[in-house]
Amino acid sequence: MMRLDKFISERTEYTRTQIRQLCAKGSVSVNGAVVKKSDTKINEDSDTVNVCGRELSASRFSYILLNKPKGYVSSTNDNDGESVLKLVPDDMRTKGMFPAGRLDKDSTGALLITDDGELAHRICSPNSHISKVYIAELSRPFEQEYVEKFAKGIVLANGEACSPCKVKKSEKSDKLAFIELHEGMYHQVKRMFAAVGNHVENLKRISLGGFLLPENLASGKCMCLLPKDIKQMFTPIDFDVLLTIKDDFFSAN
Ligand code: URA
Repeated sequence: MMRLDKFISERTEYTRTQIRQLCAKGSVSVNGAVVKKSDTKINEDSDTVNVCGRELSASRFSYILLNKPKGYVSSTNDNDGESVLKLVPDDMRTKGMFPAGRLDKDSTGALLITDDGELAHRICSPNSHISKVYIAELSRPFEQEYVEKFAKGIVLANGEACSPCKVKKSEKSDKLAFIELHEGMYHQVKRMFAAVGNHVENLKRISLGGFLLPENLASGKCMCLLPKDIKQMFTPIDFDVLLTIKDDFFSAN
């Protein structure tokens, strides 16, 4: 059992005072019945709590996938530009949400936003072996020798060594390439292609582990992820298989 105000506070942006006021106004219901006292005890596993018409998730944490557009920064404040958090609709927001992992301001695609620090750490940690697949639009044609160079491990201009990874030309264009990373160095994809004498014009992340960016999630839009989606992130997917699914659907923008 748990106090209603604690349950709501953990799943929304409301403060305890606001929750008390919302309850007093009759804007909160538990299993369909209005509850006016915010210290009422509820069963957090089985009760259905509704605040201002929005049903709250039983899960303690929120997991949101944003199809990030260009022009937003993957940080919680606006110091370097507009934060991706601005794109999260009010009814999906919770306290303490942050982007799990970075996409550059001019990169697009799959970005997880969550308030679950432990999961974010597991997704971002190289030790968890969650791969991320990107599609890069190059300024010069893809060269077949990249495959071997990337497989051996690219050394960046500053001497940093990248782990071996897979790269492949798209069937659609010789200036589109797919790349799978298991780590996340600063500007890594751009710097890897720079190291082989090419240049990334556009970059889009199309998968987080085995979870693919859904084709119907428009740029700038968010969706709530379910436990099965999170599980899918931890389910490895073969790079070559993924590309047979995705090559038809994605452009870099
Ligand atoms: N690599 C980059 O260069 N930029 C990103 O946004 C992600 C990976």
